[in-house]
Amino acid sequence: MSDSFLLTNTTAATMRGEGYGLIEDAAIAVKDGRIAWTGPAADLPGQYAALPTRDLGGRLTTPGLIDCHTHLVFGGNRAREFEMRLEGASYEQIARAGGGIVSTVTATRAASEDELLQTALCRADTLIAGGVTTVEIKSGYGLDRDTELRMLRVARRIADLRPIRVKTTFLGAHATPKGTDPDAYIDDTCIPALKAAHAEGLVDAVDGFCEGIAFTPAQIARVFDVARDLGLPVKLHAEQLSSLGGTRLAAHYDALSADHVEYATEEDAAALAASGSVAVLLPGAFYTLHETQKPPVAAFRQHGVPMALATDWNPGSSPLGSLLLAMNMGCTLFGLTPAEALAGTTKNAARALGLTDCGAIAPGNRADLAVWDVSDPAELSYTIGITPLHQRLFGGRA
Ligand code: NIG
Ligand code: FE
Repeated sequence: MSDSFLLTNTTAATMRGEGYGLIEDAAIAVKDGRIAWTGPAADLPGQYAALPTRDLGGRLTTPGLIDCHTHLVFGGNRAREFEMRLEGASYEQIARAGGGIVSTVTATRAASEDELLQTALCRADTLIAGGVTTVEIKSGYGLDRDTELRMLRVARRIADLRPIRVKTTFLGAHATPKGTDPDAYIDDTCIPALKAAHAEGLVDAVDGFCEGIAFTPAQIARVFDVARDLGLPVKLHAEQLSSLGGTRLAAHYDALSADHVEYATEEDAAALAASGSVAVLLPGAFYTLHETQKPPVAAFRQHGVPMALATDWNPGSSPLGSLLLAMNMGCTLFGLTPAEALAGTTKNAARALGLTDCGAIAPGNRADLAVWDVSDPAELSYTIGITPLHQRLFGGRA
């Protein structure tokens, strides 16, 4: 297929405006990998009529899905911890006993760049097969300069080797290496590593883990100050296991997003609304950790906080490789509507990454599209473990 063509005989969930922004019997004109026009086929401007046509057989077209929070690059796996949790140990107990994030750090440090790349490519392929066209990938399993940079280089290489867009996030403030003082780690390792990664052009955003088992708001603020000096946007793992004020800290720094947010309050929702930050909900971690505190979805709605959904794919709290399943969980576990779930993996996910050229079927946007063998967009959230992807277009290319 060339980069310029006309898609016809499709229902388009454009994700523009309210709800799905549905257009029945739509046409989508693609020129040079970008969307040139979309609307009812009956209104197609004459200038697009001569483009080669592709009949989609009445299928549903959505924007390509965007997984806006993943830890896709890592060494090893944590199946043993899964067993320990089933025997009664909590995520925090395992972390405090030297397991958890720190055990993935050991495996990631031991892996070569090529080993990390090969395993991450398999995971990227899984997301691609699920209709994902943009993925965010964090560092944070190195906790030393060389490994943090290696993770980010691997993340960048994925975009060279596969038809997927990658946004990288520096997450040096994820955990403290064993036997190190957290303050010393932030000042002597994390911040210098951030500056080095930025100097290599490896960083699109800066993240942290604000939690009792990780870093305090004051420690995260030191990292965010450096991010601001470097001109990098921030996001934060906030209020995942307890309420520490991370969400308000993120809002104070005009964060792109506050993520997890199960323990966020109404006041936190108001702060996110004021800063225009997205609440990224991660039902895979909620599910895996047997969490019972749900994110304050009603408060987010009431304050107009955009909600995104992501896999949080990581070896510990969310070994989840399906964004469609995250959508299903967002509906069943958190009470999102299927329209909110799809907005959460398209337009609001784009916003959580600071992207303005994807996440909606709109003129000028990249032709990142997913064509589904379904007739109703709610089916994407409704089915469990089924991937009805018919075709995926990345910049107009199959
Ligand atoms: O998003 N919350 C902190 N970070 C990850 C978990 C990482 C891990 O357990 O390896 C998360 O859930
Ligand atoms: Fe995460």
